[in-house]
Amino acid sequence: MIKSALLTAMLMAGLSATAAGISSPSGDFKLDVSADSDGVPRYSLSYKGSPVVSNCALGLRADEADFSRGFRLTGIDTLTSDTTWQPVWGEYSDIRDHYRELAAHFEADAPARKMTVRFRLFDDGLGFRYELPRQDNANYLTLRDEATEFNFGGDHTVFCIPGDYDTDEYLFSETRISGIPEAMAKYRGRHTESQQTEGNATIQTPTLLKSDDGRYISVHEAALTGYPALLLDVDTVTRAMSAHLTPDRLGVRAYLQLPFNTPWRTMIVSDDARDILASQMILNLNEPCKIEDTSWIKPMKFVGVWWEMFTGNVKTWAYSDDFRAKPGVTDYSALPSNGRHPANTANVKKYIDFAAAHGIEGVLVEGWNEGWEDWASYRKNRQFLFDKPYPDFDVDSLRDYAAAKGVQLIMHHETAANAADYERQLDRAFTFMKDNGYNAVKTGYVGAIIPRSEHHSSQWMVDHVNYVAERAADYKIMIDSHEAPRPTGLCRTWPNWLAQESARGGEFESFGGNPPSHTCILPFTRLKGGPMDYTPGLFETRLSYYGEGKDSQAGSTLARQLALYLTMPSPLQMACDLPENYERFADAFKFIEDVPVDWADSRYLEAEPGRYITVARRDKNSADWYVGAITDENARKATVDLSFLPAGEKYEATIYADGKDADWKDNPQSYSISTRKVDSKTKLSVPLAAGGGMAIRLKKM
Ligand code: NOJ
Ligand code: CA
Repeated sequence: MIKSALLTAMLMAGLSATAAGISSPSGDFKLDVSADSDGVPRYSLSYKGSPVVSNCALGLRADEADFSRGFRLTGIDTLTSDTTWQPVWGEYSDIRDHYRELAAHFEADAPARKMTVRFRLFDDGLGFRYELPRQDNANYLTLRDEATEFNFGGDHTVFCIPGDYDTDEYLFSETRISGIPEAMAKYRGRHTESQQTEGNATIQTPTLLKSDDGRYISVHEAALTGYPALLLDVDTVTRAMSAHLTPDRLGVRAYLQLPFNTPWRTMIVSDDARDILASQMILNLNEPCKIEDTSWIKPMKFVGVWWEMFTGNVKTWAYSDDFRAKPGVTDYSALPSNGRHPANTANVKKYIDFAAAHGIEGVLVEGWNEGWEDWASYRKNRQFLFDKPYPDFDVDSLRDYAAAKGVQLIMHHETAANAADYERQLDRAFTFMKDNGYNAVKTGYVGAIIPRSEHHSSQWMVDHVNYVAERAADYKIMIDSHEAPRPTGLCRTWPNWLAQESARGGEFESFGGNPPSHTCILPFTRLKGGPMDYTPGLFETRLSYYGEGKDSQAGSTLARQLALYLTMPSPLQMACDLPENYERFADAFKFIEDVPVDWADSRYLEAEPGRYITVARRDKNSADWYVGAITDENARKATVDLSFLPAGEKYEATIYADGKDADWKDNPQSYSISTRKVDSKTKLSVPLAAGGGMAIRLKKM
């Protein structure tokens, strides 16, 4: 390897060089960059002396020009940067951004082409992106392919979901790289509205790999703007993965106007699984906050007129059953309610009362606006109106009632994937919100995207959801997007984008259930891109299967549902269950009332992907700490060493644990609550049931 200083010296002396490299600040990582004999740019990354990925191709291929071969490495720039910044909300109040950077400049002739690959090497991993400056000829590119490779070498274990352009609402498979085609094949055709890639050897990011010698590698991307979402093609023979960009329906990956920088390709690497969870590298690779006054951005918990529609198969988002039978009717007030419509004024007031009584800041209401009757036939006619409440939903009186009770109403915009129409209505929709006291909105894109040229994770949709978040910031509106492309840390730049779904969430507890391992995988995968609106807090875990009247069993004990508020951190956390279920278990609900959603510090105490997670976090607004621990289908003991507490201080610990006879399948509602005094010398050992968990509040005395 030629050291960068040496390369610089050679370049200055007019000598040609073919390789360059840097080390991470700690020296654990080494990066090598070169152009091979065909002029293909390549990189290799090693960690503590052994390879993470080796000899990986780099580049882009467009109709107008090929940026993947024929290159010479003509120069480099290096720098070291060490800064600390304060997120508006998150897991830490201070985030250190410390890296060495290598910008490798490549040039090619006939036709002339220029490309820079910018690498940032942190103590927790690598990020790199392509930078295409203006070219002498082609400045508008029709991008066909990205050549980026990740040659892992070994047949690592991998946690992955199918390469689907339209949905990420899958359970993860835990398999070997060589087993991916078989593992992914079983998901084909599961989602009628989605389009999977050809073949079964494509997976989505974020994905997590583990080598046989215990090295963890999380692969994803950061700052996805103006470009399609990343998937990975897997070569099961060579164990190599390569970039597969979501196309539009004509097969084009992206239309680019130069100059253009791609999103960062990221690998977080460690031999300690806890470091993968603690890493803030993806946020560090995003641009600083672009909102000047962030005082209106307020993390919160919320309840909602929501779960009623998922249980029992009785309640509906739609107001009327008649409407569908009477095409051409445009005046809803002439129609009777179906009597099963919970988004009505009286019921919403009940939720407002409940929230006010329990210190829950927000109330979400779904099914409040015109358009849901089309849902049943949404393939034909999909238009929701975002300023037209149903006749039984009194916007004015609810605005005044919520304000008097100090509760924040949360708006719902289901677009049924008619994103084009949503853009047309956006200003009217946001104005309606502000006029009526709403400062947060949950958006949704269920179904096949309109315009039909697009997929959920194609370039056009990436632009759409980013545009909605930016426009929302203009209106001082917070966003929670469902069925949007997987997050990539843009919440640093747009902190009004509090959360996204973009994975298989808690709603699936009513569609057959999420096995306990699912929430032991999500923090290692999906959550690396940003917080998830998972909707924890399910106390009644025996459900009737939504839509089919069958039984569904949630993959969790009740105590474990409390732990999810720690293991699935989000500045927007739902308490998803029905008020009457919380009233049945009022002592356990106390934890949900108390638990914060914004943190000053976080300590991952125990972690293994798919198996268990134990984490402690300090409240941003007090000296109190909270601990959450979850396990998969196997019972275990969580060990909580409280040495993170300030020495000499006494804390009162309230421990919400699984009952002795608890079990996620047979006895999920058995729990115990105990209190004891603890300090920094205490080590707690708390048994977790199969599919169980525990939560602790540590209150400073
Ligand atoms: C799917 C979302 O994930 C869910 O939360 C919502 O209630 C429905 N779509 C209806 O918009
Ligand atoms: Ca969803």
